[in-house]
Amino acid sequence: MALPSLDQFDVAVKKVLLRVDFNVPLDKAVDATTAPQTVRIADDARIVKSLPTIEQLIAKGAAIIIMSHLGRPEKKGDPKLSLKPIAEHLAKLLPGTRIDFASEAIGPIPEGLAANLKPGEILVLENIRYYAEETAKDEKVRNEFAKKLCKLADFYCNDAFGAAHRAHASIYECAKLLPSFAGLLLKREIEVLEKIMTNPARPFVAVIGGSKVSSKLAVLENLVVKADAILIGGAMAYTFLKSRLIDVGNSMIEKEFLSNAFQIVDKAAFNKHELLLPEDHIVASEFSENAKIKTVKRFIPDGFMGMDIGPKTADHYAKVIKNAKTVLWNGPMGVFEMKKFSAGTFAVAKAMAKVKGSTVVGGGDSIYALKQSGLEDKMTHVSTGGGATLEYLEGKKLPGVQALLK
Ligand code: 3PG
Repeated sequence: MALPSLDQFDVAVKKVLLRVDFNVPLDKAVDATTAPQTVRIADDARIVKSLPTIEQLIAKGAAIIIMSHLGRPEKKGDPKLSLKPIAEHLAKLLPGTRIDFASEAIGPIPEGLAANLKPGEILVLENIRYYAEETAKDEKVRNEFAKKLCKLADFYCNDAFGAAHRAHASIYECAKLLPSFAGLLLKREIEVLEKIMTNPARPFVAVIGGSKVSSKLAVLENLVVKADAILIGGAMAYTFLKSRLIDVGNSMIEKEFLSNAFQIVDKAAFNKHELLLPEDHIVASEFSENAKIKTVKRFIPDGFMGMDIGPKTADHYAKVIKNAKTVLWNGPMGVFEMKKFSAGTFAVAKAMAKVKGSTVVGGGDSIYALKQSGLEDKMTHVSTGGGATLEYLEGKKLPGVQALLK
């Protein structure tokens, strides 16, 4: 997919409206009454991964107007979702760069600040979702809002892969109003995912976990015809096992998705692709680390619930992963937040670190587990997208990407 890039434009002494996804996790201690200055960023990966694009724009002599959403504010001015602390954090990551903050995203305040912006300087706009027009269903409303944003600049650059699945004004409409191109992060994310879904080095193994089959149904439907092997873990495995009439005791299952799970197993078999389900489990008498715990073979007895894949499954999955040339991982293998149920998830991370090929990790929980394992640097690519990655893997077209291609 040939996305337009910065090399095709001369941005020297020009202003570039840069859409990033600075929707970063904030410290849980932050509440509605907290002043924005005390908001703490729990993980700045999305900000750090936007730096190459920002630095490239600066090197080319552009002035940059950054816009992003943060959370889903219900009312304008919700202090805990202001972009101001994010702008301050960006300033720490880019020492020596002048970074201003505009308390509004449209109107005379940002217009005045943008007019005075010099090459190499940055203006960060207030949370774009403080404005209902950004996410309005009516395309005309979004378009009028986008026009006000685009007044601030000569070019538009989208580097917000994490929000590329949203047809919002700053993602979709802006790209049609100004000469537009993709940032380095967006380009890289799309290149990696496109390679996986169209021409992966084989064997291609997909490791899919997490609690619900329902949230990954479309991804699984797509992967069973593309991946050579799919390794299933997490609570979703119990829905798969139950659909095959295997006892899962008190494990969490999605009854309404049993037939979907059944069909996915059949579809994999029909396409002669392997779909592996756990052969043993770590089970607990209740959802707690202090509960009675044991390892059982495929059948989970009444009174116990599955909490992690068992050691035999973890070994088997690790062997399959190590022999792969491409591995895609989305979703943990168990309740890894509790130490006693984390071995399966960490076994996947360890096996992936040994792969001589391409390893791609997506999804908030798997990335969090990966960080805890200390093996993040061993992966080829750790995606900044949650919903965007899933929608791409489902085979959907991302509005943010489509708008740039037009
Ligand atoms: C994300 O975190 O997945 C993106 O920033 C999109 O956020 P949203 O789901 O609120 O649109």
